Amino acid sequence: MRRFEGRIAAIVGGGSGMGRAISHRLASEGATVYVADLSEESAKKVAEEITAQGGKAVPVQVDATNNDSLRALFDRIRSDHGVLHVLHAQVGMPGPGGIETSDEEWQKNIDVNIKSAYYTCTLGYDLLKAANGKGSITMTSSTSALVGSPFSPIYSLTKGSLVPFARALALKGAPDGIRVNVICPGTVQTPMLAQFFGREPGADVSELTKDFIKNIPLGRGAQPEEIASVIAFLASDDASYVTGVTIPVDGGLTAK
Ligand SMILES: NC(=O)c1ccc[n+]([C@@H]2O[C@H](COP(=O)([O-])OP(=O)(O)OC[C@H]3O[C@@H](n4cnc5c(N)ncnc54)[C@H](O)[C@@H]3O)[C@@H](O)[C@H]2O)c1
Repeated sequence: MRRFEGRIAAIVGGGSGMGRAISHRLASEGATVYVADLSEESAKKVAEEITAQGGKAVPVQVDATNNDSLRALFDRIRSDHGVLHVLHAQVGMPGPGGIETSDEEWQKNIDVNIKSAYYTCTLGYDLLKAANGKGSITMTSSTSALVGSPFSPIYSLTKGSLVPFARALALKGAPDGIRVNVICPGTVQTPMLAQFFGREPGADVSELTKDFIKNIPLGRGAQPEEIASVIAFLASDDASYVTGVTIPVDGGLTAK
């Protein structure tokens, strides 16, 4: 399948885990992918992997919590192509494991999980409008947006906000030919996974991960590629009538 031939994509948080897999998947289907990440090294590495496989990718260092930095990313795409077809917001953080937090930690969680998604999607909006009905915005939320966990109330609060935000932006985007959808992964084998289970001092990450995975109906965590295929579907013309939806990609976790 070459569903993104001639299309431009930007993956914010594209340097690792799911963002890396999404960048690879879209490039393998013909997109020119802007791999945007806080880590310049990671962005470059992913872009090099893609070009080594014959794909088209441009690494960009960006801090998604900083609006000027995001503006610079979109200015670059505007001057290179004048259009963006696919925009994916991946950035987020697990945050504290309980209800205790400092003002500083609270603000960081808001900035990383909410501010980054809001400004990634809104500052890129005009470029997507130029895609003439082919614009797609996707965001990565979490099953923590759909079911509660006593261990991550701030994570549920912040990631939970992306679900109604996607619905609101879908209504705003519809007349402009921009579809907006959000996915809610459960457990995905990425470098961030250990951070979810390692928040408590002395936590046995592998035991906690095993216990959690026992509760997943499909009996395993997802590979990043299994998330990337869902984003590729949502961003493609195969999903041309899909907007404003929230898709759990969780091995059945929230079906229970
Ligand atoms: N891994 C899981 O099990 C899981 C499950 C559900 C949801 N999520 C969500 O997925 C996202 C994390 O993705 P991952 O699991 O592939 O993690 P990851 O750590 O492999 O990748 C995250 C990437 O985001 C980049 N990043 C961090 N802060 C940034 C910033 N301010 N600006 C730009 N880039 C930044 C990092 O450098 C890294 O490359 C978060 O939004 C998290 O809430 C993860």
